[in-house]
Amino acid sequence: MSQSKAAKHASVVWQDGHVSLDDRAALLGQRPATVWLTGLSGAGKSTLAFALERHLTGKGHACFVLDGDNVRHGLNRDLGFSAEHRTENIRRIAEVARLMNDAGLVVISAFISPYRADREMARQVIGEDRFVEVYVATPMEICEQRDVKGLYQRARSGEIADFTGISAPYEPPENPAATIDTSLITLDVASAQLAQILMPRLRF
Ligand code: ADX
Repeated sequence: MSQSKAAKHASVVWQDGHVSLDDRAALLGQRPATVWLTGLSGAGKSTLAFALERHLTGKGHACFVLDGDNVRHGLNRDLGFSAEHRTENIRRIAEVARLMNDAGLVVISAFISPYRADREMARQVIGEDRFVEVYVATPMEICEQRDVKGLYQRARSGEIADFTGISAPYEPPENPAATIDTSLITLDVASAQLAQILMPRLRF
């Protein structure tokens, strides 16, 4: 495992193990990476993440999806949707993704992650060479039309505050590795496109 930064308390000392990142990469036959999907609620991030996981698993890669709604059931159940809580949400996810990468896995994360600064922090925590930012750029009108969870309607009526795209901002990535609009291409095509971008990076 790699050390990212100094601990808060000087009495906490980093412990190195005897299995290196290269040992783990050789064992699993892949170099780890984190595919960071960002986009509005209803853009199709989770669906795409699970399709990509299926696709990559089929090609022999060990993957794991970190999904916004799922993580908020457990690890981050104490967090809401204020800017501060979203930052803490992303900080914890980034640390988990880094640990999973250190364990050798390919991580696919599906969080709105609306703030550029938070995604930049995630990039720093996970590591520039492992972080692959993907913009799930399905337009807001389509997300709202889909309204799979009925949240847009509740946000419009004022029942839900700080809702991304309505009463809270979304800052699109400036230089993503890929941009996918799920209203224009099928799920199969989208996950195949992402797999094509990724596979060379995972090669050991
Ligand atoms: S993030 O902004 O902190 O990255 P995250 O991806 O974890 O968000 O969670 C987003 C999910 O929480 C949405 O898909 C939606 O189902 C739900 N949700 C509930 N309230 C809100 C809200 N105010 N804004 C956005 N999503 C919300």
